[in-house]
Amino acid sequence: MGTLNSGAKLCVCHCSKRYGDQQILQDVSFTVQDGEFLSILGPSGCGKTTLLRILTGLVRPDEGTVLKDGQDITHLPPDRRKIGIVFQNYALFENMTVLKNVAYALRFHDAFRGKEQSMAKEILERVGMGDSLEKYPGQLSGGQQQRTAIARTLVMNPDIILFDEPMAALDAENRLALRDELKKLQREFASTILYVTHDQEEAFALSDRIMVLEQGRIHQLDTPENLLRHPADSYVERFVGQNLLRRLGDLQRFAGMAGKL
Ligand SMILES: Nc1ncnc2c1ncn2[C@@H]1O[C@H](COP(=O)(O)OP(=O)(O)OP(=O)(O)O)[C@@H](O)[C@H]1O
Ligand SMILES: [Mg+2]
Repeated sequence: MGTLNSGAKLCVCHCSKRYGDQQILQDVSFTVQDGEFLSILGPSGCGKTTLLRILTGLVRPDEGTVLKDGQDITHLPPDRRKIGIVFQNYALFENMTVLKNVAYALRFHDAFRGKEQSMAKEILERVGMGDSLEKYPGQLSGGQQQRTAIARTLVMNPDIILFDEPMAALDAENRLALRDELKKLQREFASTILYVTHDQEEAFALSDRIMVLEQGRIHQLDTPENLLRHPADSYVERFVGQNLLRRLGDLQRFAGMAGKL
């Protein structure tokens, strides 16, 4: 086992998962370095969320192991992994204030007893939510709700943060704002991040490396530049190429519009 995990923060070794007769993940192996921002791209149903659920401990792989800092965590319960997750739909408690939502996450840990409110407040200030501590989720914009959800994950000081399409419910403006914020937070907290998105542009802008997953199989895990320059196979070429063509189309339309001005 020593071969795959030399110095890696996270190592997924030969993980497979089936539901009934459907093979969801097929012999998935990869490593993530400490402080790396790794995005996972792939069509709907290809196994992205299942992979994150295996990492959080909510789902057991049928085969394979997960190592964190070289330690086998495959059978460790979710609350002992120090791996946090942020979902698309925020999953905030509607009947609790922003402050309470974040403090609540600390309630079940003896080490934080008595410090819940002050720790929650500090993190909320750092994600730009210091003015909204007493508001309820229903009084917040989508972007503010997602910041609160991110604070709730950060306050637990996870070693690794997983994001499952965190921007999917946001409008374009909020997406861009939160994208910058994420990059800043990653630098500030030196977090290791796995980031699932359908937005290729987002993945290319944020990531050190990108994984292209299809039908539970990794086609390529590489730097954004290498995905473009040296696609591993025709699937990646088409997948990334289509994205480029779309962007080129946008540019041409934009140029066309500019020409008419
Ligand atoms: N608990 C489950 N029981 C049975 N099948 C499941 C279960 N969870 C997921 N699946 C199936 O596994 C496949 C992969 O699902 P998953 O949620 O990992 O896809 P995804 O890549 O996250 O898709 P999306 O981009 O739409 O979120 C799907 O076909 C899904 O129906
Ligand atoms: Mg999903």
